[in-house]
Amino acid sequence: MEIIIFDTQQQLDAYAAELIVNTVNQKPNAVLGLATGSTPIGIYDKMVELYNQKKVSFSSVTTFNLDEYVGLPPQNDQSYAYYMNKHLFSHIDIPEDRTHLPNGMADDIDAECIRYDAMLEAQPVDIQLLGLGHNGHIGFNEPDVNLSGGTHAVKLKDETREANARFFASMDEVPTYAVTMGVGSILKADTIVLAVRGADKAEIVKEALTGPITTSVPASLLQTHARVIVLLDREAGRMLD
Ligand code: F6R
Repeated sequence: MEIIIFDTQQQLDAYAAELIVNTVNQKPNAVLGLATGSTPIGIYDKMVELYNQKKVSFSSVTTFNLDEYVGLPPQNDQSYAYYMNKHLFSHIDIPEDRTHLPNGMADDIDAECIRYDAMLEAQPVDIQLLGLGHNGHIGFNEPDVNLSGGTHAVKLKDETREANARFFASMDEVPTYAVTMGVGSILKADTIVLAVRGADKAEIVKEALTGPITTSVPASLLQTHARVIVLLDREAGRMLD
Protein backbone atom coordinates (compact mmCIF):
# COMPACT_ATOMS: atom_id res chain seq x y z
CA MET A 1 0.00 0.00 0.00
CA GLU A 2 1.45 3.32 -1.07
CA ILE A 3 0.52 6.28 1.14
CA ILE A 4 1.15 9.84 -0.03
CA ILE A 5 0.45 12.83 2.19
CA PHE A 6 -0.06 16.22 0.52
CA ASP A 7 0.36 19.70 1.97
CA THR A 8 -2.61 21.09 0.11
CA GLN A 9 -5.93 19.89 -1.19
CA GLN A 10 -5.00 21.16 -4.66
CA GLN A 11 -1.95 18.93 -4.76
CA LEU A 12 -3.98 15.91 -3.72
CA ASP A 13 -6.65 16.66 -6.34
CA ALA A 14 -4.07 17.17 -9.08
CA TYR A 15 -2.25 13.94 -8.22
CA ALA A 16 -5.44 11.87 -8.18
CA ALA A 17 -6.64 13.40 -11.45
CA GLU A 18 -3.30 12.67 -13.07
CA LEU A 19 -3.38 9.04 -11.94
CA ILE A 20 -6.74 8.66 -13.67
CA VAL A 21 -5.79 10.67 -16.75
CA ASN A 22 -2.51 8.75 -17.13
CA THR A 23 -4.48 5.50 -17.00
CA VAL A 24 -6.73 6.77 -19.79
CA ASN A 25 -3.80 8.00 -21.87
CA GLN A 26 -2.13 4.60 -21.58
CA LYS A 27 -5.37 2.76 -22.25
CA PRO A 28 -7.95 4.94 -24.06
CA ASN A 29 -10.73 2.39 -23.44
CA ALA A 30 -9.96 2.19 -19.72
CA VAL A 31 -12.73 1.37 -17.27
CA LEU A 32 -12.94 3.88 -14.43
CA GLY A 33 -14.63 3.20 -11.10
CA LEU A 34 -15.95 6.47 -9.73
CA ALA A 35 -17.19 7.81 -6.42
CA THR A 36 -19.34 10.73 -5.30
CA GLY A 37 -19.37 12.74 -2.06
CA SER A 38 -17.39 15.87 -1.26
CA THR A 39 -13.90 14.37 -1.65
CA PRO A 40 -13.83 13.75 -5.44
CA ILE A 41 -15.22 17.17 -6.49
CA GLY A 42 -11.80 18.82 -6.74
CA ILE A 43 -10.44 15.72 -8.49
CA TYR A 44 -13.18 15.89 -11.12
CA ASP A 45 -12.57 19.64 -11.54
CA LYS A 46 -8.94 18.88 -12.27
CA MET A 47 -9.87 16.10 -14.73
CA VAL A 48 -12.12 18.58 -16.55
CA GLU A 49 -9.27 21.09 -16.61
CA LEU A 50 -6.92 18.50 -18.15
CA TYR A 51 -9.61 17.64 -20.70
CA ASN A 52 -10.06 21.32 -21.59
CA GLN A 53 -6.30 21.58 -22.04
CA LYS A 54 -6.62 18.68 -24.53
CA LYS A 55 -4.37 16.48 -22.38
CA VAL A 56 -6.87 13.62 -22.42
CA SER A 57 -9.95 12.32 -24.21
CA PHE A 58 -12.59 10.24 -22.45
CA SER A 59 -14.36 9.28 -25.68
CA SER A 60 -13.59 5.54 -25.36
CA VAL A 61 -13.68 5.32 -21.57
CA THR A 62 -16.33 3.38 -19.64
CA THR A 63 -17.28 4.36 -16.09
CA PHE A 64 -19.00 2.56 -13.24
CA ASN A 65 -20.06 4.43 -10.14
CA LEU A 66 -19.91 2.80 -6.76
CA ASP A 67 -23.38 3.56 -5.62
CA GLU A 68 -26.73 5.31 -5.94
CA TYR A 69 -29.58 6.08 -3.59
CA VAL A 70 -32.76 4.03 -3.89
CA GLY A 71 -35.74 6.16 -4.88
CA LEU A 72 -34.02 9.24 -6.29
CA PRO A 73 -34.38 9.70 -10.07
CA PRO A 74 -31.37 11.06 -12.03
CA GLN A 75 -33.11 14.45 -12.29
CA ASN A 76 -33.13 14.80 -8.50
CA ASP A 77 -30.22 17.05 -7.64
CA GLN A 78 -29.25 14.80 -4.72
CA SER A 79 -28.99 11.66 -6.84
CA TYR A 80 -25.51 10.48 -7.64
CA ALA A 81 -26.40 10.41 -11.35
CA TYR A 82 -27.11 14.14 -11.13
CA TYR A 83 -23.87 14.71 -9.23
CA MET A 84 -21.80 12.87 -11.85
CA ASN A 85 -23.32 14.87 -14.70
CA LYS A 86 -22.83 18.11 -12.82
CA HIS A 87 -19.23 17.55 -11.78
CA LEU A 88 -17.80 15.44 -14.60
CA PHE A 89 -19.79 13.84 -17.40
CA SER A 90 -21.36 17.00 -18.86
CA HIS A 91 -17.92 18.65 -19.11
CA ILE A 92 -16.01 15.91 -20.93
CA ASP A 93 -16.40 13.92 -24.16
CA ILE A 94 -17.55 10.64 -22.61
CA PRO A 95 -20.58 9.18 -24.44
CA GLU A 96 -23.51 8.98 -22.03
CA ASP A 97 -24.09 5.29 -22.77
CA ARG A 98 -20.63 4.45 -21.47
CA THR A 99 -21.39 5.90 -18.03
CA HIS A 100 -23.01 3.55 -15.53
CA LEU A 101 -24.53 3.94 -12.11
CA PRO A 102 -26.73 1.45 -10.30
CA ASN A 103 -30.35 2.31 -11.10
CA GLY A 104 -31.89 3.17 -7.75
CA MET A 105 -35.28 3.55 -9.46
CA ALA A 106 -35.39 -0.05 -10.74
CA ASP A 107 -38.64 -1.88 -9.92
CA ASP A 108 -36.66 -4.99 -9.12
CA ILE A 109 -33.55 -3.93 -7.19
CA ASP A 110 -32.23 -7.49 -6.92
CA ALA A 111 -32.35 -7.87 -10.71
CA GLU A 112 -30.64 -4.49 -11.04
CA CYS A 113 -27.80 -5.68 -8.78
CA ILE A 114 -27.34 -8.79 -10.96
CA ARG A 115 -27.34 -6.63 -14.11
CA TYR A 116 -24.72 -4.27 -12.64
CA ASP A 117 -22.46 -7.13 -11.54
CA ALA A 118 -22.68 -8.73 -14.98
CA MET A 119 -21.53 -5.46 -16.57
CA LEU A 120 -18.67 -5.17 -14.08
CA GLU A 121 -17.69 -8.76 -14.77
CA ALA A 122 -17.57 -8.08 -18.52
CA GLN A 123 -15.69 -4.80 -18.12
CA PRO A 124 -13.35 -5.01 -15.10
CA VAL A 125 -12.37 -1.72 -13.52
CA ASP A 126 -8.83 -0.53 -14.26
CA ILE A 127 -8.72 2.20 -11.65
CA GLN A 128 -11.21 2.69 -8.83
CA LEU A 129 -11.52 5.99 -6.99
CA LEU A 130 -12.76 5.72 -3.40
CA GLY A 131 -13.61 8.08 -0.57
CA LEU A 132 -13.78 6.97 3.05
CA GLY A 133 -16.76 7.25 5.40
CA HIS A 134 -16.25 8.26 9.04
CA ASN A 135 -17.27 4.75 10.10
CA GLY A 136 -14.89 3.11 7.62
CA HIS A 137 -17.42 2.52 4.87
CA ILE A 138 -16.35 2.34 1.23
CA GLY A 139 -19.09 2.75 -1.32
CA PHE A 140 -22.07 2.18 0.93
CA ASN A 141 -20.59 -0.95 2.46
CA GLU A 142 -21.33 -0.18 6.07
CA PRO A 143 -19.63 -1.85 9.06
CA ASP A 144 -21.31 -5.19 9.73
CA VAL A 145 -20.57 -8.74 10.79
CA ASN A 146 -20.80 -9.79 7.15
CA LEU A 147 -19.98 -7.88 4.00
CA SER A 148 -21.39 -8.63 0.55
CA GLY A 149 -19.14 -9.43 -2.35
CA GLY A 150 -21.33 -8.15 -5.16
CA THR A 151 -23.69 -5.27 -5.81
CA HIS A 152 -26.50 -5.17 -3.28
CA ALA A 153 -29.07 -2.94 -1.60
CA VAL A 154 -28.16 -1.57 1.83
CA LYS A 155 -30.01 0.16 4.61
CA LEU A 156 -27.94 3.20 5.45
CA LYS A 157 -26.73 3.65 9.01
CA ASP A 158 -28.06 6.65 10.91
CA GLU A 159 -24.55 8.14 11.09
CA THR A 160 -24.18 7.90 7.31
CA ARG A 161 -27.61 9.49 6.74
CA GLU A 162 -26.66 12.25 9.20
CA ALA A 163 -23.31 12.83 7.45
CA ASN A 164 -25.15 13.10 4.12
CA ALA A 165 -27.99 15.24 5.50
CA ARG A 166 -25.91 18.35 4.79
CA PHE A 167 -26.76 17.89 1.12
CA PHE A 168 -30.54 17.67 1.70
CA ALA A 169 -33.15 20.21 2.84
CA SER A 170 -34.03 18.06 5.84
CA MET A 171 -33.12 14.73 7.44
CA ASP A 172 -36.46 13.26 6.27
CA GLU A 173 -35.40 13.69 2.66
CA VAL A 174 -32.20 11.65 3.06
CA PRO A 175 -32.88 8.25 1.49
CA THR A 176 -32.83 5.22 3.75
CA TYR A 177 -31.61 2.70 1.18
CA ALA A 178 -28.89 2.68 -1.43
CA VAL A 179 -27.50 0.26 -3.99
CA THR A 180 -23.75 -0.21 -3.78
CA MET A 181 -21.02 -2.24 -5.38
CA GLY A 182 -19.82 -4.82 -2.86
CA VAL A 183 -16.40 -4.93 -1.27
CA GLY A 184 -15.61 -7.98 -3.41
CA SER A 185 -16.34 -6.02 -6.60
CA ILE A 186 -14.31 -3.04 -5.37
CA LEU A 187 -11.33 -5.29 -4.61
CA LYS A 188 -11.40 -6.65 -8.18
CA ALA A 189 -10.21 -3.30 -9.55
CA ASP A 190 -6.67 -3.40 -10.89
CA THR A 191 -5.68 -0.23 -9.00
CA ILE A 192 -7.52 1.46 -6.15
CA VAL A 193 -7.06 5.13 -5.28
CA LEU A 194 -8.36 6.01 -1.82
CA ALA A 195 -8.58 9.78 -1.33
CA VAL A 196 -9.25 11.17 2.15
CA ARG A 197 -9.05 14.63 3.59
CA GLY A 198 -9.84 16.41 6.82
CA ALA A 199 -8.97 16.07 10.51
CA ASP A 200 -12.30 14.37 11.19
CA LYS A 201 -11.12 11.36 9.16
CA ALA A 202 -7.67 11.02 10.80
CA GLU A 203 -8.76 8.36 13.26
CA ILE A 204 -10.60 6.17 10.75
CA VAL A 205 -7.67 6.52 8.31
CA LYS A 206 -5.33 5.11 10.95
CA GLU A 207 -7.76 2.32 11.83
CA ALA A 208 -8.44 1.37 8.22
CA LEU A 209 -4.83 1.42 7.07
CA THR A 210 -3.00 0.11 10.12
CA GLY A 211 -5.63 -1.62 12.27
CA PRO A 212 -6.89 -5.20 12.04
CA ILE A 213 -8.61 -6.32 8.85
CA THR A 214 -12.23 -6.54 9.93
CA THR A 215 -15.71 -6.23 8.48
CA SER A 216 -16.44 -3.66 11.19
CA VAL A 217 -14.10 -1.32 9.28
CA PRO A 218 -14.87 -2.21 5.63
CA ALA A 219 -12.00 -0.04 4.33
CA SER A 220 -9.55 -2.22 6.29
CA LEU A 221 -10.11 -4.89 3.62
CA LEU A 222 -8.18 -2.64 1.25
CA GLN A 223 -5.09 -3.85 3.10
CA THR A 224 -5.54 -7.16 1.24
CA HIS A 225 -5.31 -5.52 -2.22
CA ALA A 226 -2.01 -5.54 -4.07
CA ARG A 227 -2.23 -2.05 -5.56
CA VAL A 228 -3.82 0.60 -3.38
CA ILE A 229 -2.64 4.19 -3.54
CA VAL A 230 -3.79 6.26 -0.56
CA LEU A 231 -3.85 10.02 -1.01
CA LEU A 232 -4.24 12.05 2.19
CA ASP A 233 -4.03 15.68 3.17
CA ARG A 234 -1.94 16.56 6.26
CA GLU A 235 -5.00 16.55 8.54
CA ALA A 236 -6.28 13.14 7.46
CA GLY A 237 -2.78 11.68 7.73
CA ARG A 238 -1.86 13.25 11.06
CA MET A 239 -2.25 10.05 13.12
CA LEU A 240 0.01 7.99 10.87
CA ASP A 241 3.66 7.99 11.89
C1 F6R B 1 -19.67 7.91 -2.48
C2 F6R B 1 -19.32 6.84 -1.56
C3 F6R B 1 -19.01 7.09 -0.12
C4 F6R B 1 -18.12 8.31 0.12
C5 F6R B 1 -17.83 8.48 1.60
C6 F6R B 1 -17.02 9.73 1.88
O1 F6R B 1 -19.90 7.38 -3.77
O2 F6R B 1 -19.32 5.75 -1.98
O3 F6R B 1 -18.37 5.94 0.40
O4 F6R B 1 -16.92 8.16 -0.59
O5 F6R B 1 -19.03 8.56 2.31
O6 F6R B 1 -17.78 10.85 1.54
P1 F6R B 1 -17.19 12.32 1.54
O7 F6R B 1 -16.20 12.40 0.44
O8 F6R B 1 -18.38 13.21 1.26
O9 F6R B 1 -16.58 12.55 2.89
